[in-house]
Amino acid sequence: QRHLISAADLTRDDAVLILDTAEEMARVADRPIKKLPTLRGRTVVNLFFEDSTRTRISFEAAEKRLSADVINFTAKGSSVSKGESLKDTAQTLEAMGVDAVVIRHSASGAPYRLATSGWIDAVVINAGDGTHQHPTQALLDAFTMRRRLIGRDAGLGKDLGGKRITVVGDVLHSRVARSNVDLLHTLGADVTLVAPPTLLPVGVESWPCEVSYDLDATLPKSDAVMMLRVQRERMNAAFFPTEREYSRRYGLDGDRMAKMPEHAVVMHPGPMVRGMEITAEVADSERCTVVEQVANGVSIRMAVLYLLLGGNEPAVTHTRTTEE
Ligand code: CP
Repeated sequence: QRHLISAADLTRDDAVLILDTAEEMARVADRPIKKLPTLRGRTVVNLFFEDSTRTRISFEAAEKRLSADVINFTAKGSSVSKGESLKDTAQTLEAMGVDAVVIRHSASGAPYRLATSGWIDAVVINAGDGTHQHPTQALLDAFTMRRRLIGRDAGLGKDLGGKRITVVGDVLHSRVARSNVDLLHTLGADVTLVAPPTLLPVGVESWPCEVSYDLDATLPKSDAVMMLRVQRERMNAAFFPTEREYSRRYGLDGDRMAKMPEHAVVMHPGPMVRGMEITAEVADSERCTVVEQVANGVSIRMAVLYLLLGGNEPAVTHTRTTEE
């Protein structure tokens, strides 16, 4: 593939190759000098029309670790505020010599449009579009689950066949939920969505997963429980549950976490709203992988950039590092 737009576009073998490549990249991060020369001379622009902490900074870290030249663009403070379109913005940046565009946009479909319109020749990587997709988030989540539930070395070459993953909360507005359902299904996991009826999208019945409204009954059957942020900024006030009623039925606290099997982990893509979907006790517990997910995000993004831009460069294990 030339671009990464949707987790649904990945085959099982594509996804396992990315996870295995990310394990190789993680070994680079363990070295005293963390850089590889793989993308020397290539330029990547991070084109962010929506706010981000984790995705933007981890893409930048991944690009720099692969020795790419990095241009950071945020819509705030740019000529977008004067009415410049996505097409003109992208063509302006490409004119400066860009090989890849990492794009986050509030409009679902913006990365697809950029990749297929013929406006630019660069590789396009979706860093989250509207309520549609966030494929690198799903990949880093799968990477985290494989490591925690199977093992770092034992997991190599493997998918998540038979693992039971529960995704809880505001599915309606969540590109993370959509991407995870697509990827986890491709990797053989059994996914259950738990959400209030008002925070489930129309047509969810056709998604490759189960739906439940009973979190307490689902927790004991879960290998991983992924809590979603309640996205008030995308929410119609008429459907906005009160914090208290939401937490009572769908929030994860210490008592609920105790219902999970001992080996099961708690995940969250961040940013977390502590007290609403997850208590501080759970967020700060050993079982919560939220910080680990961020670290794994750098390895996954290195793997995606390497596989899309590295061309015929040798695999990282055979590539000379700058310390050699
Ligand atoms: N998980 C995630 O996409 O976080 P950011 O919005 O901070 O990038």
